[in-house]
Amino acid sequence: MPSQPVTASGIVQGNISTQKIKLSDGNEIPQVALGVYKAPNDGSTENAVKWAFDAGYRHIDSAARYNNEEAVGRALKDWTQANNVPRKDIFITTKLWDADQSKAAEAIEESLRKLQLDYIDLYLIHSPEPGAESFNEAWKAMEAAVDAGKIKSIGVSNFDAEHLDALLPNVRIKPVVNQIESHPFFAHEKLREETLKRGLQIEAYSPMAQGAALDREEIKAIATKHNKTPAQILLRWGIQLGNIILPKSLTKHRIEANSQLFDFELDSDDMDVLNNLDEGMKMGKLGPPGTSAPASPGATRPGSRRTSGSGGLAGNKLQMSSS
Ligand SMILES: NC(=O)c1ccc[n+]([C@@H]2O[C@H](COP(=O)([O-])OP(=O)(O)OC[C@H]3O[C@@H](n4cnc5c(N)ncnc54)[C@H](OP(=O)(O)O)[C@@H]3O)[C@@H](O)[C@H]2O)c1
Repeated sequence: MPSQPVTASGIVQGNISTQKIKLSDGNEIPQVALGVYKAPNDGSTENAVKWAFDAGYRHIDSAARYNNEEAVGRALKDWTQANNVPRKDIFITTKLWDADQSKAAEAIEESLRKLQLDYIDLYLIHSPEPGAESFNEAWKAMEAAVDAGKIKSIGVSNFDAEHLDALLPNVRIKPVVNQIESHPFFAHEKLREETLKRGLQIEAYSPMAQGAALDREEIKAIATKHNKTPAQILLRWGIQLGNIILPKSLTKHRIEANSQLFDFELDSDDMDVLNNLDEGMKMGKLGPPGTSAPASPGATRPGSRRTSGSGGLAGNKLQMSSS
């Protein structure tokens, strides 16, 4: 049992370094990661990763597609050496890009080389776009990399229920997460439920809706009530749903603020307000390769506002630990 106090939502009031979730393969994952989508392969990303480690983050979410694994790897190496922190205390996620699904073994080697690592903690199929035959072939190579000790855990991203069902019957090693968009303006509730039902944890990307709706009155009112920022309210909502959240920032004070999530609790009234903000505001897909293009224009689509409050949202069966 954790020694820290457990709140009404079942969340241990620890801190960003200690807050972990147990995956179905037995490995533990820090519930908050620094996301590095649209972060360049240079000193700005190195600084952001180091500031994040200084602030207590122990999990970085990168991808081959983001073209910044080298910067992440440099920061990781420098910071762990300078602070005498063992590699095992840091959790690194990266992802297999669509075009590499037929050569996943090589792509894994390339990511290991760029990250300067012996193993990757979590490796994801970035999207199901190339089709079931392709992602099943990639999965076999990922399983072989787990066997070889090059990857600890494997999972998927942007998979709908039918994609999960085209993969799960064929696997020897089960996917532990599905990384999908989720924030109060697009909770992705149905897919969250379908994913959790199949035993995968939710990793929520764009957890602050890319900063697009932080000035909404409903969010500001809850922020004022708790003496927190609107971004912290959106992030805490994800925490209380049991999502693993991946806030991205390259800005020092925001990286620090986005880590201050474990010293307050949203009550059921707050959660009801947030759960009723779902407008289907999907932030969209990745831009073209090698660019820092924003989410595709027109990605936002109309959605329906829920009529029920928090009751409609699936919480995952969290297995928290505070190690
Ligand atoms: N699997 C996938 O297909 C997929 C897709 C999208 C994202 N992701 C992952 O999820 C991560 C997060 O998603 P995201 O980058 O789309 O969106 P996000 O984390 O919701 O928002 C990032 C944006 O919000 C700004 N921001 C950060 N903290 C803020 C704060 N406290 N106040 C105001 N603005 C703030 C950032 O600006 P600054 O950097 O200038 O501070 C950036 O423009 C990505 O980095 C990536 O790791 C995965």
